[in-house]
Parts: sequence; structure tokens; C-alpha cells
Amino acid sequence: MENSNRNIIWQPTRVSRQQREQLNNHKACVLWFTGLSGSGKSTLAHAVEEALHQQGCRTFVLDGDNIRHGLSSDLTFNEADRKENIRRIGEVAKLMMEAGLIVITAFISPFRSDRAAVRQLMPAGDFMEVYCQASLETCENRDVKGLYKKARAGLIKNYTGIDSPYEAPEQPELTVDTEALDLSQSMEAVLRLLTPKIKA
Ligand code: ADX
Repeated sequence: MENSNRNIIWQPTRVSRQQREQLNNHKACVLWFTGLSGSGKSTLAHAVEEALHQQGCRTFVLDGDNIRHGLSSDLTFNEADRKENIRRIGEVAKLMMEAGLIVITAFISPFRSDRAAVRQLMPAGDFMEVYCQASLETCENRDVKGLYKKARAGLIKNYTGIDSPYEAPEQPELTVDTEALDLSQSMEAVLRLLTPKIKA
């Protein structure tokens, strides 16, 4: 690679993650939502963030649609670009976690290997994968953004679930069935997973 790591020396920090966590009075982690477009990732991510914020936690949501306006605005939805998108988000999430935040991400992140690579970046237990489970049929019926309709009409290529695959997690820390549960029930399930992890 052109920008090899040669001549780049890691600069140690004077303030540690632990010190930041102490200041925040809670631990940091990454809560990684994955699922089809329309499965409820963003809605749940923002609702969980609001609940945590109200409890006095320091949080940040990285959301697919927003990131693709900025950090990943140069990327398409082909396989290589999705991989790069998730790699970037993984690195950003890791930095934000180092900064002491509870990082909540909402990306389709359709490929198992990409999610596994992000998990590998973090100390064991700090990365929690939450699968927002809803059938393609349900997501397509919801079609909040009207994009499934466009994809079916051939106006959008490589649409996840239509002509691009989605690989469901095999061992997520949590599966939230967003067809069966309403928003407050889904939030409860996520907070049950999260609360012991962030305890100072
Ligand atoms: S990911 O595959 O790289 O993780 P990401 O979560 O960033 O995807 O972006 C998904 C969002 O982009 C969807 O919610 C949808 O609104 C929009 N989008 C536009 N084109 C596509 C496409 N071809 N496949 C999936 N989502 C798309």
C-alpha cells in the first residue's frame, strides 16, 4: 500500500480511556446495530441514545444515512465500498470509544466478515452486535424512504435484500425482533444488555 506504516510512530496519550470513563462515571462501549434497511436500526439507536443521555451518559450515534453524506460520501453501495464504509465506521467507533463514549452505530453492515473485522478492532466484550430482525417483506412494506420500490423498479442497483445480499449475524449479543416488539420493548431489551456493561 502507498501509505504504509513505515516512519509512523504511535503517540501515547497522557489521559487514558479509564480516566475518561471515571470522569464520565460509566464505561465506554460500541453497540453495533445491523439489519436490513427499514428494520428499525436508526429508530432504535436514537431512542436508546436519548434514554442513556437522560440518565447522564455520554453517547454518540453514527448513522448510515448521515455518514454517507460526509465521511463516506465518496463511496457507493458495491461490495468493496460497503466494506470500506464499515472499516471507516469501525475505526471511528473505536476512537470514540477510546474517548469514553457509548457509541451506537446504525449501518446495514450486510457482510459478516466486515462486522467480524470491526469486532476484532476492539477489546473483547466492548463490541456488542445487535441484530434488528425483520423480514424483507416487512421492511419492503414499511418502505419508509421509498427506496425498495425504486430498487424493484431497477432504478437503484445493489440494493440490500433485492440484488445485494444480507448476511444475518450467527451469534449476535442480542437479536431484537422489531416485527414482534414495539419500540419501548426493543429499547428495554437493548438497555438490559447494555446496563451491566457500562456500569462504572
Ligand atoms: S452499508 O451497507 O454500507 O452498511 P449504510 O447503512 O451505510 O449501508 O447505508 C444504508 C442506507 O443507504 C439505507 O438505509 C438506504 O437509505 C440508503 N441506500 C441507498 N442505496 C442503497 C443500496 N443500494 N442498498 C442499501 N441501502 C441503500
